[in-house]
Amino acid sequence: MRHVLRSQQFDRPLLEQLFRRADWFHNKIRTLHGRRMLQEILRSRMLFTVFYEPSTRTRMSFAAAAQHLGMEVVTTENASEFSSAVKGESLEDTIRVLCEYHPDVIVIRHHETGAAERAARVSSRPIVNAGDGQGQHPTQALLDLYTIRQEIGRLDGLTVTIGGDLARGRTARSLAYLLTKFDKARLIFIAPPGLEMGDDIKEHLAEKGTPFIEESSLAVALPKSDVVYWTRIQKERAAPGVDHEAVARQFSIGSRELELMKPEAVLMHPLPRNAEIAAAVDSDPRAAYFRQAGNGMLIRMALLEWVIGVS
Ligand code: CP
Repeated sequence: MRHVLRSQQFDRPLLEQLFRRADWFHNKIRTLHGRRMLQEILRSRMLFTVFYEPSTRTRMSFAAAAQHLGMEVVTTENASEFSSAVKGESLEDTIRVLCEYHPDVIVIRHHETGAAERAARVSSRPIVNAGDGQGQHPTQALLDLYTIRQEIGRLDGLTVTIGGDLARGRTARSLAYLLTKFDKARLIFIAPPGLEMGDDIKEHLAEKGTPFIEESSLAVALPKSDVVYWTRIQKERAAPGVDHEAVARQFSIGSRELELMKPEAVLMHPLPRNAEIAAAVDSDPRAAYFRQAGNGMLIRMALLEWVIGVS
């Protein structure tokens, strides 16, 4: 069974297979003829989405990916509020019950770190982690990497600055894990005091021989970077003593910061963004975050095929 639980489970050949397939979907989806052809690929298959936390991109792009491939989508509307979790049902019992309805894949987002792994332990159907607490968001890391490949044309030899709330941002953690797979990757972490990248990630980077530094100055980091991956402050997750608004202002990328970036660099963000990237930046060709969000659907199409086992 092909669960998707952590980004580091993907090796380079599989990544390349998924990226080539996403390229193919990108071409097919442009025409009505192509979209009709896609409908046959996973016809009669069923996707369950069970989201205990809010989502726009992940949930909608999984649903769109599934429907473009001909799947039926069954979804909970805010599982934290409207599922029987409210009546005290455990995640494990919920997953056991959902498996009785014969979904082909269950995509789950949950506020607890490790929830997707717990679900996978009791599930007879493939589980896809769509974000678990402060743990991981592996499908986001796949689409992030695909976007870097699209925008820059290579994945080796890149200096990637990852900035923002690195202590609690699961997308930054999943991307850092995945970047260790690539030759001569160098990482620069920029985080407000108290929100630095976790030791588990730093230990993993050291073990894999991926060099990284922790930097406090955007003026130092940005001119060196091929990729600037910016993230929001996770206001919904408690961080005692952190003034979220002040941090957001201090760590904001605007026109001045953009001038520090290489002309061929790319500015990414998993979204949603708050004040950490100014809207004035959106029209710069290096601002890739809306293209990045679009890539999410293509990657999730490729992933659904792979999870179900038809590729
Ligand atoms: N990037 C991301 O996970 O966005 P959503 O929370 O909207 O799904």
